[in-house]
Amino acid sequence: MSVLFAERMNAIPKSFIREILKVTENPDVISFAGGLPNPRFFPVDEIAAATSEVLAGTDVSALQYSTTEGYQPLREYIAQRYRDMKKIDVTADEILITNGSQQGLDLIGKVFIGKNDRIAIEKPAYLGAIQAFSVYEPQFCPVSLIDDGADIDQLKDVLNGNSVKLFHTVINFQNPSGISYSENRRREIAKIFEQNGTVIVEDDPYSDLRFTGEAPSSMRSWLADRAILLGSFSKTIAPGLRLGWICAKREIMDKLVTAKQASDLHSNSLCQRIVHQYLINNDINRHIETIIAVYKRQRDVMIAAIEEHFPKEVKITRPDGGMFLWVTLPEKLSALELFELAVKENVAFVPGTPFFVDGGGTNNMRLNFSNSDEEKIQEGIKRLGRLINKTLVEK
Ligand SMILES: Cc1ncc(COP(=O)(O)O)c(C=O)c1O
Repeated sequence: MSVLFAERMNAIPKSFIREILKVTENPDVISFAGGLPNPRFFPVDEIAAATSEVLAGTDVSALQYSTTEGYQPLREYIAQRYRDMKKIDVTADEILITNGSQQGLDLIGKVFIGKNDRIAIEKPAYLGAIQAFSVYEPQFCPVSLIDDGADIDQLKDVLNGNSVKLFHTVINFQNPSGISYSENRRREIAKIFEQNGTVIVEDDPYSDLRFTGEAPSSMRSWLADRAILLGSFSKTIAPGLRLGWICAKREIMDKLVTAKQASDLHSNSLCQRIVHQYLINNDINRHIETIIAVYKRQRDVMIAAIEEHFPKEVKITRPDGGMFLWVTLPEKLSALELFELAVKENVAFVPGTPFFVDGGGTNNMRLNFSNSDEEKIQEGIKRLGRLINKTLVEK
């Protein structure tokens, strides 16, 4: 049978996280592994009410085939929100509704990447981007992340004369590191891209989950023609809806729409209408504020527990938002070995290696703080701390 599979399937890494999620289905496991929102805040009643409203009228078009671009009022809502909240000049025809931003990544891959094309990604990178782009068999050019964004010298080196097609970046509360790009770093990157033919993919599902500080500018505000912005309702409403969007200028949008037609004709019309109805019935900003307050507290509890239970040599990032923090263990420790031990103690996290396309990350762990309540965070970190200390002594 294996001779029948397309060669490209050999290049695609299996999602480590989806594999780990099988372990974490066990309710006894305290999981810091998945990037799951806290289900306590899924607006179940409000979604039920919106669904009844959408289906109550005589208009049955929510159940009919529809346009590839998406439900027009929802596209208008998203564009308006960009104008109001992020002060970026976006119109509804620059929005394509997708099945989560994950589909956005796949469509971008389909439109831009041919076999062996060079694309720049962050190091560490969002695992789902590595997986989505791998289908198109690119050569990945990793650019290290430092405290306030991508390393500029490395980015220049990668882009210089190498006909790189795109740079995928998660500039707010990056998955997996929690790092955000400073305003200066963004400005420097915009300057580089102004002189370069490359497209920047600003994958931004987390910017609404900001705990403190002012939101820096979107790359789209400087690089309108060559910035592709991805957004999602997964982290603010619910990921099971599978709704996100791509924001791009006309020339790119035309190609993305064609790619999406070939993939699935259009995203689920019923869901698009339900989400739109939910958004006009409810104050989404209030809902987001509720989530932020809880995630911020959970982040604080996780950091305090780490400070109490992990050895002092361990370094962590302290994100101002999002869902993850990134742990760097002493070099002699293997996060993969620790993972095996942790699972036996009913705690899970994601070891660093799958976030790197060129090796590395062996002593890193990604910890999710959004999905567990405070007690579980304290207990889970305590168990991890015990294991790290024990392993350190044995090495
Ligand atoms: C950086 C990033 N991009 C895209 C996604 C995919 O999100 P969705 O397809 O649910 O919108 C995720 C999910 O965790 C993510 O972290």
